[in-house]
Amino acid sequence: MSPNNHKQHLYPTRIDMPAETRSQIVGLLNATLATTLDLKTQVKQAHWNVKGMDFYQLHLLFDEMATELEDYVDTVAERVTALGGLAVGTARTAAADSILPEFPFDILDGKEYVTALADRYAPYAKHLRVAIDKTGELGDADTADLYTEISRTIDKRLWFLEAHLQAAATTTASATPEKVAL
Ligand SMILES: [Fe+2]
Repeated sequence: MSPNNHKQHLYPTRIDMPAETRSQIVGLLNATLATTLDLKTQVKQAHWNVKGMDFYQLHLLFDEMATELEDYVDTVAERVTALGGLAVGTARTAAADSILPEFPFDILDGKEYVTALADRYAPYAKHLRVAIDKTGELGDADTADLYTEISRTIDKRLWFLEAHLQAAATTTASATPEKVAL
């Protein structure tokens, strides 16, 4: 049986939210759980394998980001169970249900790793922002707040990642004679 069949499973609960609403939110949270687990393993992949002169600072940064995602995995899973749902968060379900592509294995230096992670943090950030609106529309301010907290952190991490790439772009642009004249 596919683990997807369990994604909207609901246990009886005294929580004052309609089962239909809880079912929709549990489905959304389980998609977030799969994606967050997947992203955490991809950030660890980067933590272990990044090379180059920026190795150590990126190695530490990626570990900090992975630890943060691990906390969110637990927060999201426990919101599922608080709503009476079944948290679906094994490695197999994460691989099957994540919205992200697999991490590239043929990259080497820091810039390539930072780019690969930015390319995955951006769709994850978009997923979280959509989830804030959906859970708000469903009247679940608590889950919307949980998504808002994660979203704010992920936007900040996307900034951290892109700051490495934007610096190179700015240097190149300002080095042209036209830019200097301005
Ligand atoms: Fe480590």
